[in-house]
Amino acid sequence: MSTIIAVSNQKGGVSKTTTAYNLGACLAIHHKKNVLLADIDPQANLSEYLGYEPDGQPTMTQLILTTSMGNAITPNMVKAAIRHSDSANTDYIPSDINLASSETLMSTAISRETILKRILSDEVTNRYDYVIIDCLPSLGSLLINALTAADLVLIPVQTQKFSLDGLQALEALFQQIKTAINPKLEYLGILPTMVDRTKISRSALATLSERYGEKVLDTYISKSVEAAKSAENRVPLCITDCKIGMEYIELTKEVLKRC
Ligand SMILES: Nc1ncnc2c1ncn2[C@@H]1O[C@H](COP(=O)(O)OP(=O)(O)OP(=O)(O)O)[C@@H](O)[C@H]1O
Ligand SMILES: [Mg+2]
Repeated sequence: MSTIIAVSNQKGGVSKTTTAYNLGACLAIHHKKNVLLADIDPQANLSEYLGYEPDGQPTMTQLILTTSMGNAITPNMVKAAIRHSDSANTDYIPSDINLASSETLMSTAISRETILKRILSDEVTNRYDYVIIDCLPSLGSLLINALTAADLVLIPVQTQKFSLDGLQALEALFQQIKTAINPKLEYLGILPTMVDRTKISRSALATLSERYGEKVLDTYISKSVEAAKSAENRVPLCITDCKIGMEYIELTKEVLKRC
C-alpha cells in the first residue's frame, strides 16, 4: 500500500514544489523508497524541476480531461503518462499549462471530487511506497481532488509577514473533505519554510507553534539561495553539501517517523 501525501497551501510561493521535489528525491535516494510525484499545477514547476520536456505522450491534463468527460480511465492509460527522473530517482506524472482549462470541465463532472483518486487508483500506486502530489496555489477543484485522493497533507508555510493568512480556509476545506468524502485524511504536519534570522520570521514561527502545537513539524527549512539553484540545476538538495540539504534530509526522517 502506498501513502499519498498532498503538499498543499493555497498561498503562492511558500515552497510547495521545492518541498514535494526534495522530499520525494530524498525518500528515493536516501531511503530507497519507490516514489511517484504527481504534478497537478498548470504552472508545471515540478515537472520542469524533474526535467520534463514535452514529448507528445499524455500528461496529467489528458488524464484529468478523459476522466472529467466521464470516460473510464485504465491503469495502462495512467502508466503511459508516467515518466522517470534520473536526477531525483523518482517516477512522475507531468502537468502542463492546458491543465488550467480542464479545471472548468472538472467542476461540472459527475463525482468531480474523485477524478484524481480514480487516476491514482490502487493498481497504479501499489508499486510505490509514496505518492507525492504537488498542489497549485488555489482552493479550487484541483486542490479538492488532491485532498480527496490523499492520506496525508503536508502544509509548507512561509515564515514571513501574512504567512498565516488563509490557513483557516485550508483547514476548513480539509475538515469538509474529511467529513464528507475522505475520512482517512490526516495532517502530516505544517512545515515552516524560508526561515531566517529576522524578527518577522521568529514571530511567525512562535505564532505557528502557539496555534498549531504538535501539528508543526520539528524540522524547519531555512531561507537559502540553494533552493533556487537546486531547481535551476535540477539537483536534489539532499545530495548537495549545504545546510538546507541537511534540513530536507531531517524533514524526510521526520516524515518517515510520522507516517
Ligand atoms: N527555502 C527557500 N529559501 C529561499 N528560496 C526558496 C526556498 N524554497 C523555495 N524557494 C524559492 O521560492 C520560489 C517559490 O518556491 P516554490 O516554487 O517551491 O513555491 P510554491 O509554493 O510551489 O509556489 P506556487 O504556489 O507558485 O506553486 C522559487 O523561486 C524557489 O526557488
Ligand atoms: Mg509550486
